[in-house]
Parts: sequence; structure tokens; C-alpha cells
Amino acid sequence: MLRVGSIGLGGISTWVHVPGIMKSPDLQLVAICDIDAEKLKAKAEEYHIPEDHCFTDYHDLINCPDVDIVDISTPNDFHAEMAVYAAERGRNFCVEKPITLNLEQAEAIQKAVDASGVTGMVCFSYRYKAAARYAKALIEQGKLGKIYHINAQYYQAWGLPDRNCKLVWRFVKEHTGTGALGDLGCHVLDLVSFMTGEEYKNVVAHHKTFVHEREKLDGSGMGPVDVDDQSDYLCETESGAACSFQISRFTAGRGNYQRIEIYGEKGAFVYSLDALQDGVDTLDYYDESSDEKQYIRLEIPEEYVVDQMQCYADLMAGHGDGWDALIADGVKSQRILDALCKSANEGCWVTI
Ligand SMILES: NC(=O)c1ccc[n+]([C@@H]2O[C@H](COP(=O)([O-])OP(=O)(O)OC[C@H]3O[C@@H](n4cnc5c(N)ncnc54)[C@H](O)[C@@H]3O)[C@@H](O)[C@H]2O)c1
Repeated sequence: MLRVGSIGLGGISTWVHVPGIMKSPDLQLVAICDIDAEKLKAKAEEYHIPEDHCFTDYHDLINCPDVDIVDISTPNDFHAEMAVYAAERGRNFCVEKPITLNLEQAEAIQKAVDASGVTGMVCFSYRYKAAARYAKALIEQGKLGKIYHINAQYYQAWGLPDRNCKLVWRFVKEHTGTGALGDLGCHVLDLVSFMTGEEYKNVVAHHKTFVHEREKLDGSGMGPVDVDDQSDYLCETESGAACSFQISRFTAGRGNYQRIEIYGEKGAFVYSLDALQDGVDTLDYYDESSDEKQYIRLEIPEEYVVDQMQCYADLMAGHGDGWDALIADGVKSQRILDALCKSANEGCWVTI
């Protein structure tokens, strides 16, 4: 049994990390940390964590002798210092995406991990969707042959003006790094690469902020939004595939909508996820050699159904399946995010 200390007890911790930890026979939540003392107290009661294992300072959680592995789910601006500190203390950890605010911070984590020999996992959660894993397996078996086109969309709607979302950290560059790009775009960049094995070579991006001011959280007036609400980008891969991505928080009717179309010489796959429908991930397949001449919905074999936090447990115990994202994948992702921002700012193609 691995004893977990979780830092940052907000949305993703509440909805994904802690339930996954509770469900795993190999993990036990023994310590929690949040800078919000009231939230910490409420979560301590809910998760039955004793007071002396509840911390408002993450250093104390990482140094707690009862913690074997660390789980980092804070806003992006704290990922680097927490991951580096965990590595320096010899603690294996997982950290949410995007791994950091910029490439320099991501490389600092890599350096600390290399120096200490610990394992760090990046929570690219959609790698654990069964349809994505099955697509990866089928593509590795050669079902598509050479890949020509990849089109990916990741749409949400909570930024729309009538939702009245305040100036949360996701709209402020010093806390988030990038906007929709790092929040949503990094997931599909990783997922496309995970499914197809393609590596990005050149990128060009167009970013836009639709709402420039939002109400500050402390009620002291309006504050500026200084990150992208929308990010569209084209990428060419090392093998020559042409990719297009559309990412937005302003797409009405989209809760957590992902669609990835992959067109190869022998056929095509369409992976999709739509929270407003049944929230189930699906995989459609077109076989160029078949007489059917239509896309068919594939049954996903049970072996592809996994849980992110159980995979974290397996990786931390030294028997991961090789499909988790490690710090090197997080660094690669951050390098592409930085290149996309440079492209959007300068209006030119950027080589990765
Ligand atoms: N993998 C996914 O699909 C997915 C989905 C949502 C969010 N995320 C990522 O998870 C992270 C957290 O997002 P969220 O939506 O849960 O945010 P959130 O705002 O709901 O929660 C963040 C929590 O961290 C706490 N916190 C802030 N600074 C802290 C510090 N220094 N020490 C301890 N606690 C601190 C806050 O008080 C809050 O409780 C982000 O990096 C985000 O990009 C990933």
C-alpha cells in the first residue's frame, strides 16, 4: 500500500484524484494540503484525515514521514516549485497538466527528477480514456498506415459572457501560463501524439481573447484577462502529417467536447467525447479496404478500460504499463505550448 499526500484540494482533486485514490486497493490518502484553511478543514472531515496530517504549507506535507508519494493538483504556477521540492526530498509524485507556466520551469523539474532518480507522472487524463487507448493499440498494429491528416477539437463553454465567470486563476497569466491553450489544448496535443506516435515539427497559431476584463474575486472591481480564450493552431509532424487544432472556452453547447479525426492511407479513426451527451468516449473506424464504405462504431475491449489513479499507483510501485506521461512528456508538451505562444505573438511558423 502506498501512502499518498495530496496538495491542492479543488475541482480536479475532488472529482478525479481523491475518488481514484479511494477506489484503488494500492493507495491510501494519509495527508492533505491546501492554502485555504477552511477548505482544508472541510476536506479533512470528509476524508477522515487527522488534524496532524493536514497542512497549509506543502513543504510540511512533502516532509511528513507517513507520506510515500505526492499528488500535486494546485493551479499551474505552483507545479514547478512543488515538483522540484518533492524530487529533492526523494518523493515520487504526480503533477497536473500543464506541467508548468513555461519551458524553463519544466526543464527545472526534469533536472531535479534526473538528479534524484524519482518518478514523476503528468496527469494527461485523457490518455486513460478507453477509446483513446484502443485507437493507440490499433494504430500501432498498422490499421491506418501512413497518417496524412489529424483534426482535433477541444471545446468548452464556461467562458461565454452570460456565464458571468469571475477572474479566476485560469484567466491570469502569472497563475496559468496560457489560457485555453494550456488548459485544454495541451490535452489534445498530448492525446494525438499518444494515439498516433506522431511528433510535432513545426507549428503556427492564432490566439484570441474575447472578453478582456472580468470581475475580480475579492469584489474590488474589474481586472484584465491576459491569456487566450481561444487557440487555433496548425502543426506539421516529423512524418509529414498535417494537423489542425481548434480550442475554445467560448463554444456554446459544449461541456467537455473532444473530437479527434485521424486520416491514414488505409482508413480513419474518429475518437470523441461529449460531456453533454452521455459523457462516454467513443471510437469510429473507417476501413478503406472494406466494402462497407461507412464508419462503424467499435466495441472497446474491456482490457482498455483503466483508471488514471490506479495507473499512477502501478507506476509508483514500479510496474506501469509504459503508457503514462512522464516528466519528459510534460517538458515536450511545454516546449510546444511555448512555441505556439511565440507563433501567435509573432505571426509566424515556429520550429519545435
Ligand atoms: N487533467 C485534467 O483533466 C484537469 C482538469 C481540471 C484541472 N486540471 C489541472 O489541475 C490543476 C488544478 O485545477 P483545479 O480546477 O482543481 O483548480 P481549483 O482552483 O479548483 O483548485 C486548486 C486548489 O489548489 C489550492 N491551492 C492553490 N495554491 C496552493 C498552494 N500553494 N498550496 C496548496 N494548495 C493550493 C486552492 O486553494 C484550491 O483548493 C490545474 O493545474 C489544472 O490545469 C486538470
